[in-house]
Order: sequence, then structure tokens, then C-alpha cells
Amino acid sequence: MSGDQSNVAGDPPAPTAIPRRGFMRWISAGGAAILGALVGIPVVGAFISPALQKPKTDTWIKVADDTALLDIGVPIRVDLVQTQDDAWVESRALISVWLYTEDGDVFKAYNGRCTHLGCGYTLAADKKTFACPCHRGQFDIKTGAVLAGPPPRPLDTLKVQVRDAAVYVQYRDFRLGVAEQVEA
Ligand code: FES
Repeated sequence: MSGDQSNVAGDPPAPTAIPRRGFMRWISAGGAAILGALVGIPVVGAFISPALQKPKTDTWIKVADDTALLDIGVPIRVDLVQTQDDAWVESRALISVWLYTEDGDVFKAYNGRCTHLGCGYTLAADKKTFACPCHRGQFDIKTGAVLAGPPPRPLDTLKVQVRDAAVYVQYRDFRLGVAEQVEA
């Protein structure tokens, strides 16, 4: 009898052996990828979600304590510090609101940024117009309409509420340099 142990015709083929080391490597790489995804997705989400969140803008901000103390027919500027909290950073911004009333009962509030490029405007010497120093824009104090210069739309008005003689506004920022009033 020969010492040849090779397959004889009719025998089932010998099973192909999976290299054990390669298989273990494949399992560890797959496990690491799944673990990475499980840990990484929430971390990445935490970093980008503050950037995607819209700031809360539905809060009423008190801009005057007593309507009786406000001048009739002469707008006043109220400067406020707006604090914004996101998951990581607390930021503060100085914002301005112009408040105007003709009768002490009904109030109009304008966002303090010029609708052209966002400069702060002031009350002109005639006290009938607002003047923007950046490009000589001019607005009517009663309506916010553009009277001169490049601003593409009237001043942005804000919602106003009077409660217990105090005046509150809902502050909003809008896109600059466009004809429509679109929230930023
Ligand atoms: S920013 Fe006011 S006129 Fe340009």
C-alpha cells in the first residue's frame, strides 16, 4: 500500500479552513467600527446641534417700566444685553430697540439695526426722522418708512405688549439688505 493519503475519488472535499488570525482581526475591526459609531455620533451631534438650533426668540423683554414716563411723539432708544445659552457657550450681544408712541397707549417698537447693513441708527436733530450714519439712510419715526438712502425696506417692527403699565417687546433679528422682512 502506498503512503499517499490524498483524496480518493468519491470522498467529500476537505473543508477550507478560515485562517483564525484573519478572522479575529476582522471581528475586532468590525467591533471597533460599531463602538466608534455609537460613541462618535452623539459627540458630533453635541458639537453641531448648538449651531443648528435657532435661538429662542419668543420671550417678551421689558423695555419700559411705566408708560406714563415715556415721551409722546419722541422715540426713545432702549439698549439691552441679550444673553444666549447653548450647550457649551453663553454669549452676550448688545441689542437696541426704539420705542415710539403718539398717544401713550399704543406703542411701536423698531429693531435698532438699519435694514441696509445693520448699523445702529439715531434720532435726527429734527426729531422726526431716524438717521443711519453708515450710508445716510433715513427713516420716518412714525412708520419706519425709508425716506432716503439705500435701505431696501422700512425699519423692522417688533411685537409690543403693555402689561401693568410696563412695555414688553418680542425681539427679533431680520435678514439685512433685502426687500422682504425675513427672520434671520
Ligand atoms: S447701514 Fe444704514 S444706510 Fe447703510
